This record gives sequence, C-alpha cells and structure tokens, in this order.
Amino acid sequence: MAQLIGGVATSHIPAIGGAIANGLQQEPYWKPFFDGYPPVRDWLGEQRPDVVVVFYNDHGLNFFLDKMPTFAVGAATEYRNADEGWGIPTTEPVRGEPGLSWHLIETLVGKDFDLVTCQEMLVDHACTLPLKLLWPGECPVTIVPVSINTVQFPLPSARRVWALGEAVGEAIRTWDSDKKVAVIASGGLSHQLDGERAGFINKAFDLQFMDSLVSNPTWATRFSTLELVEQTGTQGVELLMWLAMRAALGTAGGHAVREVHRNYHIPISNTATGLMALACA
Ligand code: DHB
Ligand code: FE
Repeated sequence: MAQLIGGVATSHIPAIGGAIANGLQQEPYWKPFFDGYPPVRDWLGEQRPDVVVVFYNDHGLNFFLDKMPTFAVGAATEYRNADEGWGIPTTEPVRGEPGLSWHLIETLVGKDFDLVTCQEMLVDHACTLPLKLLWPGECPVTIVPVSINTVQFPLPSARRVWALGEAVGEAIRTWDSDKKVAVIASGGLSHQLDGERAGFINKAFDLQFMDSLVSNPTWATRFSTLELVEQTGTQGVELLMWLAMRAALGTAGGHAVREVHRNYHIPISNTATGLMALACA
C-alpha cells in the first residue's frame, strides 16, 4: 500500500509569484517569509514523496461564481496554470496521478461525499505557489488537486472539512501502490482582502490554531464557518485547508504527528503567513 509521509501547510499569496520571478527572496520585506522554507525543503528532500494531494481553494480560475462546487477532485493527467489577472508568471503544467485520483474519488463517494470530478482542471496560484515554494526547480512530484470552496457562501463547515480530510487520508493509505504520498494545505492564515475589516489579522488565533494541529487537532471543528470568518477574516477561512491536511494525517490508532518545522510572519501583502510541516509518526 502507499505510504503517507506527512503534510505541509502554507499560505499562498499571488505576490509570492512575483517575488520568486524577480529574485527578491533575500530582500528585507521577503526574507522572513522565504527563510521558513529551506528546513521544510530539506525534510521533503529526505522523504522524497512521489505524489502530493493538494487541498486548496480555487479563486475564480477554474470555477467561477456561476458554478461553485463545495468539493472538487482533479482526475487529469496534467494540470495547466493560466493567467488569473494577478500579473504573475504562469507556471509550467504539473503532472497528475490519475490512479490515486480515481481511488480517492471512489473512496470518498463510497463514504457519501458528493464530489465534482474534473478530468480537465486549470489550477491557480493556490495550487502552483506551494509547489514552487517547496520545489523551486522542476516539480518532482505528481499531484491530485482537491478544491474546497472558501470563496462563495455557503462554505463547508470545519467539521465537514475534517471528515473529508480523514477520508482522503484513508484513501491514500489504501491506495494499491508502492508510492510515497504527502499532503499539502494551501491557504490562510488570517487575512481579509475587502470590506470594512480589510487588513484584518488575528495573530493570537493563528498561533493557537497552529498549536492545536499538534496538541488537539480537532480543536477548530468547534467553530461555525461564521465564527471562523469572525476570527480569521473572510479569506482567513482558507485555514480550512490546514484542517483537511491534519485530518488526512490521522489521529486514531497511533497516527500521531511530529512537528518538523513552522514559520509565522506578518504581513505579506494583506496576509498573516504561516508554514507548518508535520511528519506522520
Ligand atoms: C492575497 C491573499 C490570498 O490568499 C489570495 O488568494 C490573494 C491575495 C493577499 O494578501 O494579497
Ligand atoms: Fe487565497
């Protein structure tokens, strides 16, 4: 069976793509952010996953407000990036892993999750930037993108996202393959891009949330979606991806995690950025 090695959660902000393209990683503004990644890259270099399942939210590239699935899973052989209007360079296509995609889809539908399956899927900055941050050169992994709606209400609850993540973890562990799999979460932490609270950041909540993923992983499932928006901002609710990732790593039967590394820095653009790598113990 496939081996689940662990997970990495990271913020995604379009400006990161511009900073990479312009080589700004050591500039004072960017350094505290980019300095978080080398220890995580080292760990991934030791672990060498073949495949990553990427929990992310599409921001209007593949799904727009007229058709917004709550949960969508990619089942393509290749995922192309396209211009989303942020003016950042388009990245090269990423290879898919259809065998895991279909095993995941069959497992999730078998557990009564109603999914949209996508045999063609454009991926936006939320999927491409974590890959670039973790593997700055050629991408050595194949991917299975799992899109969770955090853009248009109603959003899935934290409880439901936890259940989805658990089921994804089970699907990975029962995939008949000798490949190594990691899980990526892309989004958060606290930020709000628009409205009266534009610029809102909640450091205390972010740090408690990061701690909880190690010490009390289901902690955030006690909050309703509106409570999470209140605590983290309208876009901070992207932290649901982190919850899905942590759930996939498992809690039952000794599936504890070991924290490999974390970083937290305010702000990049309008966002409190977080990074966390967790190894399956
Ligand atoms: C920003 C953050 C995001 O999560 C996003 O998707 C787009 C922009 C920002 O802070 O600029
Ligand atoms: Fe976002």
